[in-house]
Amino acid sequence: MKIITTENYADLSKAAAGVIAALLKKKPDAAFGLATGSTPVGTYQILIEMVRAKELSFARAKTYNLDEYCHLPQDHPQSYYTFMHRQLFDHIDILAENIHIPLGDTVDLEKSCADYNNLLAGADIDLQLLGIGGNGHIGFNEPHTPFTKTTFVVELTEKTRADNRRFFNSIDEVPKLAITMGISNITAARRILLLASGAAKAAAIRELVKGEVTEAFPASVLKNHPDVTVIIDREAAALL
Ligand code: F6R
Repeated sequence: MKIITTENYADLSKAAAGVIAALLKKKPDAAFGLATGSTPVGTYQILIEMVRAKELSFARAKTYNLDEYCHLPQDHPQSYYTFMHRQLFDHIDILAENIHIPLGDTVDLEKSCADYNNLLAGADIDLQLLGIGGNGHIGFNEPHTPFTKTTFVVELTEKTRADNRRFFNSIDEVPKLAITMGISNITAARRILLLASGAAKAAAIRELVKGEVTEAFPASVLKNHPDVTVIIDREAAALL
């Protein structure tokens, strides 16, 4: 596991965008696993600027998102579909047919998981971008999720729903279920790039770097992966 520590969030975003841009320049039809959440927003912003400046093109790239809420319309302001379009896809030259996000707005969630899993099986993801939860979650794989899991529907904990309450009008509106790549889908990527910023992530980063591999801390599975880069800012690195 290679660890890069940057001074602040802006430098972390620059470093992460640099890794993605270098891969895309070398392999214009690369496949990327992408994450939502606040951490990658700065990275996406820099990639958008590079595309606008014609330094970079996603015209042949493919993307696969980690997760999506269930039973929330795709066009809901808080769906991950909307998030990704607003934060990245609407501003770059990626083709709509090359964007893949799990389908959560369906009655047949089992089929949706199977479909996404089949898609991932042939995706050959070159680089998976990840954030990390304070409890070590990656995607929506919460502590004690088996490392062998493929795409599945997860019941969100009351803690996660309460954390996400701020984005919705009321707690009742916060989805109870989400569909997520499983840990074995995530670790199938050729290369992993995990980002963490701020003091709230410091304990999780210490656990990731110094702790043992255990399903109690999902991100620890990355220690078994041959090509992982972790980019953290000084605050997230504070307990190392
Ligand atoms: C996002 C995702 C989550 C986040 C994690 C960190 O698609 O699956 O695992 O990466 O919760 O979120 P932020 O970046 O908001 O701290």
